[in-house]
Amino acid sequence: MTHGTDWNPALYEDKHSFVWKLGAGLLELLAPQPGERILDLGCGTGHLTNQIAASGAQVVGIDGSLEMVERARENYPELSFSVMDAREITFREEFDAVFSNATLHWIQEPQPVVEGVARTLHAGGRFVAEFGGRGNTGKFLEAAERAWNKCGFPSGFQNPWYYPTVAEYAALLESHGLEVTFATLFDRPTPLEDGARGLRNWMAMFFGRVLERIPASQREQYLDEVEREARPGLFRDGRWIMDYRRLRIVAGKP
Ligand code: BEZ
Repeated sequence: MTHGTDWNPALYEDKHSFVWKLGAGLLELLAPQPGERILDLGCGTGHLTNQIAASGAQVVGIDGSLEMVERARENYPELSFSVMDAREITFREEFDAVFSNATLHWIQEPQPVVEGVARTLHAGGRFVAEFGGRGNTGKFLEAAERAWNKCGFPSGFQNPWYYPTVAEYAALLESHGLEVTFATLFDRPTPLEDGARGLRNWMAMFFGRVLERIPASQREQYLDEVEREARPGLFRDGRWIMDYRRLRIVAGKP
């Protein structure tokens, strides 16, 4: 999660719990150890932060959204959470690891984020992250753009997310002095909850940056059009399946 979008913690927790449930595999890669200091970058409502803390590590969760941080504090009052923009991380060589699940695709300027991550880590520390990689939500974006053009909106459709390739992101990490030890891009088709309403819920939760560019009086028409365009590629057996594609990466600070 992060800045630049109005987050709805209730809709997130109720219908989109897959975001942190599917992040559990990434925790295995992090392998947090008792006593380690770990920064959870884009902690959302705090569920993975809590799982990291359960390993005995000292964890701090940061998120750009005040609403999400407030919910995280309610969920886990014993843990430490702060509102912080991922492009303006203020820590200096304080952490053994930086962990980030399903956040970095929200930030179109990856450079200051990676700078902050590199600065935050001790020598010998690690960065473990997963987010949308090149091609993520590709069928959805094609449908959203076709629907946009059909509706005849005057400005062009814009992909609101940052989805790099492995090579692009690894080069960025290396240019900030981090050594990439593991990187993979994999398809992870993800069923959405709530049957036929699943795509609407998903768009209400995650697609605000595009929807807010449309006059309120035309939003329903646009949402109907996206559903129509996306259905052949993404609706099967009574439910929507989002074509997620994840970039998972581990890098160390020498
Ligand atoms: C993702 O987790 O890959 C994702 C979630 C919402 C919007 C775009 C990507």
